[in-house]
Amino acid sequence: MKQICALLAVCASVSTSAADPEVQDFGKTKDGTAVQLYTLKNEKGLTAKVMARGATLVELHVPGKNGKSEDVILGWDSVAGYESEDNQYFGCTTGRVCNRIAKGKFSIGGKDYTVATNDGPNHLHGGVERSLDKVVWDAKAYSNDKGQGVRFKYTSPDGEEGYPGNLKCQVVYFLAKNANRISISYKATTDQPTPVNLTNHAYFNLAGAGSDTVLDHVLTLNADKYTPADDTLIPTGKIEPVAGTPLDFTKPKRIGARIEKLTDTSALGYDHNFVLNAKQDDSKPYNHAATLLHKASGRRLRIMTKEPGIQFYSGNFLKGQQGKNGKTYAHRSAVCLETQHYPDSVNQPNFPSIILKPDQEYQTSTLLIFGVSGQK
Ligand code: BGC
Repeated sequence: MKQICALLAVCASVSTSAADPEVQDFGKTKDGTAVQLYTLKNEKGLTAKVMARGATLVELHVPGKNGKSEDVILGWDSVAGYESEDNQYFGCTTGRVCNRIAKGKFSIGGKDYTVATNDGPNHLHGGVERSLDKVVWDAKAYSNDKGQGVRFKYTSPDGEEGYPGNLKCQVVYFLAKNANRISISYKATTDQPTPVNLTNHAYFNLAGAGSDTVLDHVLTLNADKYTPADDTLIPTGKIEPVAGTPLDFTKPKRIGARIEKLTDTSALGYDHNFVLNAKQDDSKPYNHAATLLHKASGRRLRIMTKEPGIQFYSGNFLKGQQGKNGKTYAHRSAVCLETQHYPDSVNQPNFPSIILKPDQEYQTSTLLIFGVSGQK
């Protein structure tokens, strides 16, 4: 007996694996599919919850400078909220093609395709009924010596939402054990050439979801250029400098400082694609894309990616809906910082291509790194 106890003690001391994420029911979809919520936790006080509908980030509790944690993303208390009219892509995986496709039309290899127009004259975020945010993905929770994760998989059949090819998709959320760092990693393969552009649509308010505004947050974007767009937010195809415009976030700037000076948009605020500066050092797996800071709480978010663009959306269409714990999500009370290829890339020959071919694997990843200002 003594020997067994000694052995167990040794095993416990050398085992560095985190426990598997906790699982709980998160309600059923309208068509009766049960959806589960997975809780990822680490030693540094960060808790993230993800669910299988839309491979969605539901909660993100982040410590501030006084040690107090707040849930910093918008969302709903159960799956029913995500299916309601008031949901605006909160926290979901967005695709097959996030952002816009002009007039819902594109062609590949001389063949024309039409996808739904659900944003004025344009296609937005993958369609209407079966876009990737609306389907229930297969989920597998796991842990290893580096932390805890959930792997979501979904195969979108040929023709779903008008897109060609059977697209096998995977999204993995992984929370590091000993650092407040979450990676969101995407993979996809296809059996026909097809456009793919995946992102996560989390809405952040570092003061805590439900706080009045994000106009007091300070933003830095590693972007000297942006893609000007028409009044339906379709890029003109040009790439222009941000210098001298309210889009210049190359140095830290308060989001509210120049928002009323925006003249080029019917979007009621920031809703622009920024062209991320490519680094000389290509050996690094990630480039810095954005840093968001809320000075009062000290919470800071750094976003890293190798994607060429980031859509900065200042929550202009939030309309006072009541989300998690009855909190109100007012106009401009959260920001999305969506790492991605540029909008309407499928129709813009001078933008990096989003066409995935059968012999290729789509692979991209975004890191969310949380810290407290003034602390390492
Ligand atoms: C778009 C906004 C849109 C929002 C929908 C963003 O990615 O750029 O125009 O209103 O998603 O929630």
